[in-house]
Amino acid sequence: MMTSTKAKNLIRKNPYLPEPKKVIFYKRESHDSFTIRLKWKLDHGVGQFVFVSIPGIGEAPISICSHTKDYVELNIREVGNVTRNLSGIKKGSILYARGPYGTTYPMEDFAGDDLIIIGGGCGVAPLKGVIEYIESNRELYKDIFLFLGFRTPDDTLFDYRLSSWKKDFNLHISYDKIENKGKTCILGAEGFVTTLVDNNIHNNNQKIALLCGPPIMIDKTIGILKNKGFNDDQIFLSAERLMYCGIGKCGGCMIHGKYTCLDGAVFRYDQLRDEPNDG
Ligand SMILES: Cc1cc2nc3c(=O)[nH]c(=O)nc-3n(C[C@H](O)[C@H](O)[C@H](O)COP(=O)(O)OP(=O)(O)OC[C@H]3O[C@@H](n4cnc5c(N)ncnc54)[C@H](O)[C@@H]3O)c2cc1C
Ligand code: FES
Repeated sequence: MMTSTKAKNLIRKNPYLPEPKKVIFYKRESHDSFTIRLKWKLDHGVGQFVFVSIPGIGEAPISICSHTKDYVELNIREVGNVTRNLSGIKKGSILYARGPYGTTYPMEDFAGDDLIIIGGGCGVAPLKGVIEYIESNRELYKDIFLFLGFRTPDDTLFDYRLSSWKKDFNLHISYDKIENKGKTCILGAEGFVTTLVDNNIHNNNQKIALLCGPPIMIDKTIGILKNKGFNDDQIFLSAERLMYCGIGKCGGCMIHGKYTCLDGAVFRYDQLRDEPNDG
């Protein structure tokens, strides 16, 4: 007869099984996004993601936007059923989560290089985890360039971190449209983040670019970097695809012949370039 311990172990090994996590911090970032911190000591790598869920509603893959192993921070944009329901949570709420999943940025491999971090909109969230890793390992890298693009000043994410990023790094911010200064403490230039990259990055010497944002921003940025001489293996990007299982079973996340959940979501550009697109 199967012992209950064995049964419990089998249940524990179920990779789909989420666990309850307490929300210990909640901050609204903009009209459609918020940041939460979960009480969850998680051994994760830079660029990985987790699934968060509300029973009876559904679950969503969300990038970890912190670096510490003491808790997990997530920035969530309200776009649909799960994410809108998540916006109702507050400090002290319990939600369910499983993970971590996906590949990581190979941060050790970049030692001695300049890092160029380029984020658009909610794509800035996973890059905050990268920035926090750099802050903890600043001696490993040379110059750090941050290019962050938002729709308007009111859409700025993590404005409470900008002063320190401006002090420590080469920070460049763009807004598609500036009608008023909004809530942000540091105002950027009006225009697209791609223009800032084009104006401020002049060559590929010992440089690595890390990109996350909407597909049009990614495509344009890659074009600009390649014009500056960047090789495909100097460009890393975080891809977002519809995901269901997160463990290579459902096939829902295929992109260029790869599983985004297993082979990504962080890809080196040359890993995607030559394969036909399935998505
Ligand atoms: C690896 C990974 C990391 C992610 N990290 C974050 C993050 O840090 N913060 C964040 O806010 N969101 C992130 N997303 C996107 C997030 O998972 C989706 O917005 C969420 O699943 C939508 O669920 P929903 O039920 O709220 O919306 P739905 O009702 O399912 O859909 C609403 C709309 O969003 C679109 N959509 C749904 N899922 C995705 C997706 N995966 N990618 C693009 N569009 C989608 C739908 O096509 C639809 O138009 C990530 C996605 C992936 C794959
Ligand atoms: S999400 Fe199911 S295979 Fe990737």
